[in-house]
Amino acid sequence: MLLTSILTVVLASLARTTFAQDQFGPIVYDSIHNATSIYGTWSSGGKAVLTGPGFADPANMTFTYPKTTGISYSFTEDGFYEISRYRFNSNGSEPTCITGVIVWVHGTYTLNANGSISMTPLGDGFQQVQDPCAAVSNFIQLYNQTEYYKGWRIFHDPNQGYKLHMFAFDGSPLAPQFQVSTTPNMLPTKQLRNVPPATNSRRSLDVEERSVSGAQDVLGPHWLTGVMVVAGGLALLMSSTAMLL
Ligand SMILES: *[C@@H]1O[C@H](CO)[C@@H](O)[C@H](O)[C@H]1NC(C)=O
Ligand SMILES: *[C@@H]1O[C@H](CO)[C@@H](O)[C@H](O)[C@H]1NC(C)=O
Ligand SMILES: *[C@@H]1O[C@H](CO)[C@@H](O)[C@H](O)[C@H]1NC(C)=O
Ligand SMILES: *[C@@H]1O[C@H](CO)[C@@H](O)[C@H](O)[C@H]1NC(C)=O
Ligand SMILES: *[C@@H]1O[C@H](CO)[C@@H](O)[C@H](O)[C@H]1NC(C)=O
Repeated sequence: MLLTSILTVVLASLARTTFAQDQFGPIVYDSIHNATSIYGTWSSGGKAVLTGPGFADPANMTFTYPKTTGISYSFTEDGFYEISRYRFNSNGSEPTCITGVIVWVHGTYTLNANGSISMTPLGDGFQQVQDPCAAVSNFIQLYNQTEYYKGWRIFHDPNQGYKLHMFAFDGSPLAPQFQVSTTPNMLPTKQLRNVPPATNSRRSLDVEERSVSGAQDVLGPHWLTGVMVVAGGLALLMSSTAMLL
């Protein structure tokens, strides 16, 4: 009896130190797993990317571009989430084809017993993609993906405060996010634009997708940076990639 409970404690603490990447059993949301609650607003790096007003306007599918790339997540106590993401994806086989993606999405989330998070969008999410190598290089389309995160942890950093670590579906870490506020800063947690029902996802995408004129090519200066970096060599490329994260 005693042995079993000691074993349980040892196993539980082992599971916790594996960074939530390989947990298959139930976990406890104690101060070792998360030093504070996940409720509120979180943002990476210089906190230029934030959820809530000022990032996206779902009614007319427009974005206000932040000064730098980053990610921001908000969670309410009653199960709603919102994500603002602005990042560059590099392509190993086509190093000059650095794609810029800015995304806004919200919906409902579940903190699963095995430590993962499941997110289900409301249908009014959207993204703008800039791909210099594609036929249409700059377009806006619906973004309505369910997202699954393998795990999450919150640590307390004496200098930077609370730090949220999230792990993607494959266990890879997202950029750490700092606590911006303990009450979530979000747009209203309901559908903010009429979205045609998802009878056929390909069709609804065609309806919504629109290319954006050169005048709105706000990622411009960054493309130049990307190309210069490629010309400047691998070392620079790597440091720049690290910065973009
Ligand atoms: C861990 O997070 C959960 C969900 O946000 C919360 O209910 C719980 O109180 C948190 N634990 C601590 C120690 O703050
Ligand atoms: C989108 O709507 C906001 C206000 O709701 C407005 O300020 C902005 O100019 C609009 N953008 C476009 C491109 O229509
Ligand atoms: C990388 O570029 C190639 C060639 O343009 C393309 O076929 C492939 O889908 C791209 N990969 C990613 C991950 O974007
Ligand atoms: C964790 O729980 C979620 C929700 O129940 C489930 O979808 C997922 O497959 C589980 N993951 C593992 C690794 O068991
Ligand atoms: C968005 O995704 C959710 C979850 O998969 C689905 O229930 C909903 O119908 C989708 N909405 C649209 C407009 O595609």
